[in-house]
Amino acid sequence: MRATGAERAGGSGGRVPAGTVPGGVAVFAVLGDPVGHSLSPAIHNAAFRAVGRQAVYMARRVTSEECGPVMRSLALAGGGGNVTVPHKEVVLPFLDHHTEAVASTGACNTFWAEQGAVWGDNTDVEGFRRTWEAVTGGLAGAADALVLGAGGAARAVLLALCEAPVPPRIRLWNRTEAKARALAVHFGEERVEVLQDCGGTAPEVVVNATSAGLDGRSVPIELARLAGTPRCVIDLVYGKEPTPLCRRALDLGAAAVDGREMLVRQAEASQVRWFGKPPPRGVMTRACE
Ligand SMILES: NC(=O)c1ccc[n+]([C@@H]2O[C@H](COP(=O)([O-])OP(=O)(O)OC[C@H]3O[C@@H](n4cnc5c(N)ncnc54)[C@H](OP(=O)(O)O)[C@@H]3O)[C@@H](O)[C@H]2O)c1
Repeated sequence: MRATGAERAGGSGGRVPAGTVPGGVAVFAVLGDPVGHSLSPAIHNAAFRAVGRQAVYMARRVTSEECGPVMRSLALAGGGGNVTVPHKEVVLPFLDHHTEAVASTGACNTFWAEQGAVWGDNTDVEGFRRTWEAVTGGLAGAADALVLGAGGAARAVLLALCEAPVPPRIRLWNRTEAKARALAVHFGEERVEVLQDCGGTAPEVVVNATSAGLDGRSVPIELARLAGTPRCVIDLVYGKEPTPLCRRALDLGAAAVDGREMLVRQAEASQVRWFGKPPPRGVMTRACE
């Protein structure tokens, strides 16, 4: 069965929300490999504390074989959680129901149970949509976007951009061009234009959905090689320091937003799926900082 994220977000009527464990503490977790760097426990636990919720959120490193069964047992015990790299696709067969965002991206990052059935959603889509709105709200006119990458994060970004009320012009570049071409076919080649080389383009907004920069050194492309300086760079990567791409953007005089913005927004959307309402405004952002 499928439902939209909006239906899930508004659909708590009558159901027992996740996190309701009579007399006990509900357990939530981010499942992935690696998970040691994840900020998800800090931001979700801050939100639980802020409303006095009897719940705890932890990071659990799991193999791809373990991930689906662990996900189901957490959800069916009254908890829930998130799935991260590299398991967002392998858990799909373990879901009983999923949203349209999961169907369109082929990835699940949020799970919980309702009436004995395990649900999955992909709140990266809403997380990016809200980041895009916050960033481009300050730009006059429709923005023109260059998306870098063709993995799971790029799928969420492309879905959010294609579904925007005023979709931007979308150009897509990936190190392995064939994967970008496959994504353009999936989302519609009339909507997504694949570039072999970004050199001659002058996008207003550059979105980094590659994992380049996780090492603290690499960049997916050299921004200085673009035909014009973008107004803003949205980097999905985050770390303790500004990411290499954000540093390059700031050096060129562009605005830059790193992956913590989207992390907080997708986490807020996850809490809506679990509890039917978002955490108090700002709690997760402050925990992130
Ligand atoms: N902030 C958030 O909330 C959030 C949410 C989701 C994801 N993310 C981040 O987004 C990044 C991508 O995640 P994913 O799930 O899409 O991973 P993925 O499915 O493994 O895809 C990785 C992508 O990065 C590209 N890539 C890897 N190293 C590169 C390099 N050195 N130069 C250029 N391209 C490179 C790959 O290109 P090839 O196809 O050529 O291999 C591929 O397009 C990760 O850093 C993840 O942490 C952040």
